[in-house]
Parts: sequence; structure tokens; C-alpha cells
Amino acid sequence: MKSPTILLSTVIAACYQSAMALKPRTCGAPADAVPFYRAYDSARTDHWYTYDVNALNDFNPQGWLLQNVLGLVFLTEEEGTAPLFHMYNGAVMDNFYTMNTSEVTAAQESGYKISSNPLTVYIYPTQVCGSVPVYRLYSGSETDNFYTTSESERLDFITNEGYKDVEITGYVLPLGCS
Ligand SMILES: *[C@@H]1O[C@H](CO)[C@@H](O)[C@H](O)[C@H]1NC(C)=O
Repeated sequence: MKSPTILLSTVIAACYQSAMALKPRTCGAPADAVPFYRAYDSARTDHWYTYDVNALNDFNPQGWLLQNVLGLVFLTEEEGTAPLFHMYNGAVMDNFYTMNTSEVTAAQESGYKISSNPLTVYIYPTQVCGSVPVYRLYSGSETDNFYTTSESERLDFITNEGYKDVEITGYVLPLGCS
């Protein structure tokens, strides 16, 4: 696998161009959207998503390997978007993301804490502005919440990896360059 630093700069350049092609009105400005990277730690069986390239590089030596990009997200609450809360439970080693504040409360009651590092990102709660679904899957045996915008990957995780469909978490701008 290539070093994260090289891979990331390539992905960013290509994806900004595809996002710029969209012409929204009641949408966030695509030029503001940034890649939401997916890293995976096989020792913890935990998927972690972040826009923070420095954090990815910092955690890389601890076993977190960059896998791909979920899509493009916003760092401020732009038109039509809402917060995607990031929670973490160290006891079961699981990163969890949801837009649903009832779920945030329920997760807090079961040991998850809201993570402020990295900052909350903002995505679309409905499929508008050229966005695509973020599928949320869960493995009870591994205590892992997993998110993907790839239909084929979703089916692969259900068929071969023991994950189950949970919901569509929200909608992100597609890369168009995966
Ligand atoms: C939010 O989560 C609660 C608890 O799981 C659920 O009952 C409710 O339907 C969810 N709301 C939405 C909009 O998905």
C-alpha cells in the first residue's frame, strides 16, 4: 500500500474537480466539501472515518491503514446539511457515526462518548444536491459499525463478512474518482 500522504493528495485533487462540476442553489458549495477518509484497524476490527489528514498520518503507525474515501463532507453547517455526530466507545473499540440525536443519547447510555476530535462534519439528511446514500452496517460479533457508499461493498460485507444492514445514515457528495 502506498504511503497515506501521497495517496491523499492525489485523491483530493481529483475529487475537488468532480465536485466543482455540480451547480447547486439550495445546497452546500461543493468546492467547500472535503474527502471523508476511511481507515481500518484489523487488530481492533474498527472502521474510522475522518477528514483530518494529519490524524490519519499520526494513527497510521498504530495500525490504522487508509482504505479509501467515503465521499465528500462539509466542515461547517452549509445549506441543507446537518451534523453527523462521531462517537467512540473505547471499551468495545468502536467508532460510531449518526445524524440521529436519539441515537446519540442511546449510545451515550451504552458507553459511547461524543468525539470532538476530529470536529463534527456535516452531510445531507436527505438525497439532494447530487448526494449518494451512506449505508450503515453493523457486525454484532465484532462490535463494528461500518459505512460505505459502495453498493457492491455493502453486499460483500453482508454476504461474506457477517454484517447486517442498519439504515441509510445520510447522504454525501460522491467522489467520481474512486
Ligand atoms: C432515530 O432513532 C430512534 C431510536 O433508534 C428511532 O426510533 C427513530 O425512528 C430515528 N429517527 C429517524 C429520523 O431515523
